[in-house]
Amino acid sequence: MVCLGNICRSPMAQGALENMVRERSLAVIVDSAGTENWHFNKSPDYRAQKVAASRGWEISAQKARQISSSDFNNFDLILGMDKSNIADIEKIRPKNSKTPVMLLLDFSNIKNKNLPDPYYTNDFEGVAKMIEIACDNLLVQYFNS
Ligand code: 4NP
Repeated sequence: MVCLGNICRSPMAQGALENMVRERSLAVIVDSAGTENWHFNKSPDYRAQKVAASRGWEISAQKARQISSSDFNNFDLILGMDKSNIADIEKIRPKNSKTPVMLLLDFSNIKNKNLPDPYYTNDFEGVAKMIEIACDNLLVQYFNS
C-alpha cells in the first residue's frame, strides 16, 4: 500500500487489509510506504488512527517509511492510492521487475479512480469505507476468500 506521505491513506489500507487477512486466517504480508520521505518514522495521522480504531484496524504502531526499489522484489503486488503515486512508484521500478503496480480502487467498482486524500479533505470516514470495499474485493479476487 503506497501513498504520498505514508501517514493517512496507506496506513489505513494496511490496517484494513491486515485485519481482514487475520480474520480469514490467510498468510499474507501487508506493508505500506510513502513515495516521499517527509514523515519518516512518524506514526499515522491522529485522524487516521481514530477512524481506523473505530473499525478495529490496529495502525497505531506503524511508522512511516519511503518506498524503495527493493519493495519490487519483496512484494507480489504494489497498490498506489492515486495516479500520481503510481507514476512515482513506476519511476523506481527495477529494470527486470514485472511486479504489478495498480490503483487500490481498481479493486472496487470505481476503476481508474484516485482515492481522495483525507489529509486535505478531512473525510477519513469516507476514505475508510472505500478502503474497506477494495480490500475485501482484493482478497476475494486473489485468494477466493
Ligand atoms: P497520505 O496524505 O499521502 O495519505 O499520507 C498526506 C500526508 C501528508 C502530506 C500530504 C498527504 N503532506 O503534505 O505532508
